[in-house]
Amino acid sequence: MEFHSPEIAAISQPGQFVMLGLGLDRPGTWLLPRPFSVGWTGEDGAIGILLRTYGEGTLALSRLRCGEEALVLGPLGRGFEIDDRSIECVAGGVGLAPFIFLAAREAAAGRRVRLLYGERDAGAVFDTDTLGDLTGHEPEIFTEDGGAGRLGRVTAGLDPESETLLLGCGPTPMLHALAAFALENGRDLQVSVEEHMGCGIGTCQGCVVQSADGRWVKACIEGPVFSVGELDWSLP
Ligand SMILES: Cc1cc2nc3c(=O)[nH]c(=O)nc-3n(C[C@H](O)[C@H](O)[C@H](O)COP(=O)(O)OP(=O)(O)OC[C@H]3O[C@@H](n4cnc5c(N)ncnc54)[C@H](O)[C@@H]3O)c2cc1C
Ligand code: FES
Repeated sequence: MEFHSPEIAAISQPGQFVMLGLGLDRPGTWLLPRPFSVGWTGEDGAIGILLRTYGEGTLALSRLRCGEEALVLGPLGRGFEIDDRSIECVAGGVGLAPFIFLAAREAAAGRRVRLLYGERDAGAVFDTDTLGDLTGHEPEIFTEDGGAGRLGRVTAGLDPESETLLLGCGPTPMLHALAAFALENGRDLQVSVEEHMGCGIGTCQGCVVQSADGRWVKACIEGPVFSVGELDWSLP
């Protein structure tokens, strides 16, 4: 989906997100907005969202029609911090969204990134032609049933010997596997966590995660991107 939101499009960075909601005047609306990664931006002032329906909120959003309005708050949170190193992006499911933005930016700057993208099965894989058009990169696809791309989990595509900067976004079990790989192999990793978020601006405490030094930190303002060493990975 795309929303015309030039102020947000102009300053968004990969890894940042927006809170999307619908006004209370709409039939079948919900009260709390939901968080979505900025998936891409357009020169026409558009921001793009890669939307997968789970429940009430995403279903209502999926029913929006061209020309209708939504509440868009952002850009929020801390994005990925990249440097001159080569980058490998590891995405699970809709965790692909921030890497569409990042890969497109890097392609525009003449840099290639490795984009590893995993789904449970072939039916869930987002259209690869569209992804190629949006990112300027061809994603390497992994499915757990082997129905598309390579058979296995996305983390199977990682090389322990490589020295790239690892970036990850996806379901918590995938982030745990990625963190274990990075810690075991002494690799730099930044992850974007997918916590439930009530406000997105630091007031509701709904998004806390435990830091490595035992504090509860708010993913919406101190994240959603964290370095692997900042978080406590002993918790499920
Ligand atoms: C920083 C961030 C970026 C996100 N980016 C995207 C994106 O680009 N595209 C996208 O489609 N979604 C994204 N999400 C997830 C999206 O916000 C959730 O899908 C949404 O909150 C679910 O809303 P819902 O009303 O459809 O589901 P609900 O009715 O709220 O929940 C339906 C079911 O899904 C579960 N659920 C809801 N949210 C999550 C979650 N975050 N993790 C695991 N289970 C959950 C609930 O427990 C429930 O079982 C992101 C989440 C975060 C925190
Ligand atoms: S979502 Fe409300 S404090 Fe983070």
